[in-house]
Amino acid sequence: MDHAHDIIHPVEDSFARDVLAGLSADVKTLPSRWLYDERGSALFEEITRLDEYYLTRAETSILRERQNDIADFVESGAILIEYGAGAGVKTELVLAGLREPRGYVPIDIADTFLAETSKRIALRFPSLWVRPIERNFLDVFKVPFDESDGGRTGFFPGSTMGNLNASEAKTLLTQMGQHLGDDGRAIIGVDLQKNVGTLLRAYDDSAGVTAAFNLNLLERINAELGGDFRLEQFEHAARWNEIEKAVEMHLVSLCDQRVTICGRTFDFRTSETIHTESSRKYTAESFERLARSGGWRVAEAWQDADRLFGLFGLIRG
Ligand SMILES: C[S@@+](CC[C@H](N)C(=O)[O-])C[C@H]1O[C@@H](n2cnc3c(N)ncnc32)[C@H](O)[C@@H]1O
Repeated sequence: MDHAHDIIHPVEDSFARDVLAGLSADVKTLPSRWLYDERGSALFEEITRLDEYYLTRAETSILRERQNDIADFVESGAILIEYGAGAGVKTELVLAGLREPRGYVPIDIADTFLAETSKRIALRFPSLWVRPIERNFLDVFKVPFDESDGGRTGFFPGSTMGNLNASEAKTLLTQMGQHLGDDGRAIIGVDLQKNVGTLLRAYDDSAGVTAAFNLNLLERINAELGGDFRLEQFEHAARWNEIEKAVEMHLVSLCDQRVTICGRTFDFRTSETIHTESSRKYTAESFERLARSGGWRVAEAWQDADRLFGLFGLIRG
């Protein structure tokens, strides 16, 4: 029987642990990876189509314009391993341009789109081996291919790298090195530093989709962990952190209140926030430093016409 797109390695249930620890800290924080349940993933796809959210348009334009350069960079017959694959829309663009790609391994902590994305891609590229992995990509794990299967290229678009702090980014880049091997290559998309107004609008759109995406995390806690958050008593905020060069998403408490989750209580003061995501913005130099910290070197740097977004081709070393 062909199990070509059976999902391997189910995610360990660590949501409760992360929520209880994050809300017990002096500065309340929740890891952004939990934003992507079924509704969160659908809302994120809606965000990618918003006028204010230039990131997806800019990255997609690079992938289209540089399709041949990308195919030259990735050797023929390669296996593409994608970190944080989501709906895999950009993946199809890349796979369509590659020369005889052999395999595709989408990795995502959210099972929502993983099965759908894998099926769609397997149907469109019938000769491709598709092996989805449901996993936190910061965990240590193996991918189901070895050196003898041919060249491997990592693909990490969507500026998801910017959601990781320096230590997490180093962990992931190092793990990518192990997955992809000494001859491995990686293609990583990151958002570039620009005027703060443009950045903040991308994370606080006029239609309120990003606000719904952020507040959905509280709904997820209510639904999955029996929490009693009153959503109308919190509001979404996007803030620029000049030191981190990051847009931060917060959920701001609108009053003094007490919330119960899994039988534990958490007190919020008026204006106190839960920090739910940081989206770090890079220059070519700061990204190069980050890549080096994880054992990689920038071999190719591509940008869109407006120089909003950067796509980098990395080799080991
Ligand atoms: C910003 S979206 C990008 C989606 C898609 N790659 C794109 O470019 O539009 C981030 C994706 O990474 C996944 N993700 C975030 N943190 C993760 C983690 N620690 N481990 C695995 N997947 C993660 C999310 O579930 C989501 O699908």
